[in-house]
Amino acid sequence: MSDVIAQLFDNNRVWAAQMQSEDPAYFLRLVRQQSPEYLWIGCSDSRVPANQIIGLDPGEVFVHRNVANVVVHSDLNALAVIQFAVDILRVKHILVVGHYGCGGVRAVINDEKNGLVDNWLRHVRDVRDCYTKQLAQVDDFSWRHDRLCELNAIHQAVSICQTTVLRDAWLRGQDVTVHAWCYSLHNGLINDLKVSARSREEAVEQADNAVARMFWMKNKRRRGVRADA
Ligand code: CO
Repeated sequence: MSDVIAQLFDNNRVWAAQMQSEDPAYFLRLVRQQSPEYLWIGCSDSRVPANQIIGLDPGEVFVHRNVANVVVHSDLNALAVIQFAVDILRVKHILVVGHYGCGGVRAVINDEKNGLVDNWLRHVRDVRDCYTKQLAQVDDFSWRHDRLCELNAIHQAVSICQTTVLRDAWLRGQDVTVHAWCYSLHNGLINDLKVSARSREEAVEQADNAVARMFWMKNKRRRGVRADA
């Protein structure tokens, strides 16, 4: 075994022993069952670890991650995670968490060529294409990058609300809310994008409002009015 991999096993033994000594019943509890209240759908980016960011232990959050936190209606992997989380685990909240500085989103803005992954990122490009005019109104790369990270999270949250899984859950009166957030690598804080939907209609309306606010605020700033005025 290479030294690098051997180190991971060493780390693992130290971690397991530490958890055991801090809380002797820790693993026993986890083995018995998982009953998370949250499903986290985030980017695969190594800097965005679900549990740590929201301060939850193993067993408390069900996690699905892919490049640029995309939810596509034909993606059996994501759909299976969502269906299991909603129907079986009965999570109360689905957190769609984009992040500022996302490399996948940047690749879309820059029209980068990275190979096969470009096909996956085509979904983010679709989001970008919906807002070509709005995004072009400011000639500032990082502003456009930030906005597309937010727009992407909002769109993916709405996409979840349109799945048969969520529609059926709401139809039978199940209590489950879909949220859109964006995490900052700069300060570790989550920005609430103000989508917290308990129905398809609510999701679309909140998303429309969030997007309108996003570009309206920029217009106000450009006219010299404070965004929070
Ligand atoms: Co990312």
